[in-house]
Amino acid sequence: MKGIILAGGSGTRLHPLTKVTSKQLLPIYDKPMIYYPLNTLLRAGIRDILIIVAPERSGDFLNLLGSGKEFGARFTYEIQDKPEGLAQALLIGEQFIAGDKCALILGDNIYTDDFTAAISNFEKGAKVFAKKVPDPERFGVIEMDENGKVISMEEKPEHPKSFYAQTGFYLYDEKACRLAKSLRPSERGELEIVDLNNIYLANGELQAEVLKGEWIDAGTFESLHQASVIVREHELGMKDGRSNLEVKIKRPLSSKKESLI
Ligand code: TTP
Repeated sequence: MKGIILAGGSGTRLHPLTKVTSKQLLPIYDKPMIYYPLNTLLRAGIRDILIIVAPERSGDFLNLLGSGKEFGARFTYEIQDKPEGLAQALLIGEQFIAGDKCALILGDNIYTDDFTAAISNFEKGAKVFAKKVPDPERFGVIEMDENGKVISMEEKPEHPKSFYAQTGFYLYDEKACRLAKSLRPSERGELEIVDLNNIYLANGELQAEVLKGEWIDAGTFESLHQASVIVREHELGMKDGRSNLEVKIKRPLSSKKESLI
């Protein structure tokens, strides 16, 4: 399975913090934000990772992360000229994916779950990861049956059918690049990941799994701050030999460099 981190975008909701740097380079407690989604992929055993960046910031990501060797992985970089949507990652990454399955993660999403099992059990179709939230109307809302098969997906619905928000981590089978080519830009001019997922849904091939651990989308001032608080608490908890998060985090396979969350 290949991994892709989406670290482009414009980060307008975090202006002026993101006027001269990328959102994914901002600190979350003691590390740059991108370390967290990167660690989510590494912890799940993914070693071949494409990092999609905005042109103005590409040098900064390269300086920070390098070849991947020190993480025990291989990093490839691609530039997304304009933030034309999450699903564009599958077009930009087509050569990199080279007919494999892939895991796509947003560069500003922080997870404490370990996805190793989800990835090794993944065979076909697409899989999204849902989190129960008190305010589902702010998110893409997933309705699913008891087997995790998705029944419906709605973007920011006025009357949500469930409390499960779709989060920024997705697994796709080998068909994803081909299907992404059939997408047309939405009214806001983006290739929408929800449109790609809707194709899988229409084919009866979209599964959802409920997260057990924490999930934070660090794209707003409030959530950015919250992310630092949660990571700090967790790291201090780890140092005391206890974890105050629901899920026990495994050390990343890459030795000395970091224990990210
Ligand atoms: P968003 O938070 O939806 O968009 P953004 O980062 O541009 O922020 P804002 O809405 O405040 O302007 O993006 C989610 C993640 O996906 C984030 O890590 C940036 C990344 N992204 C891309 O890499 N390319 C894109 O075309 C888009 C839309 C987002």
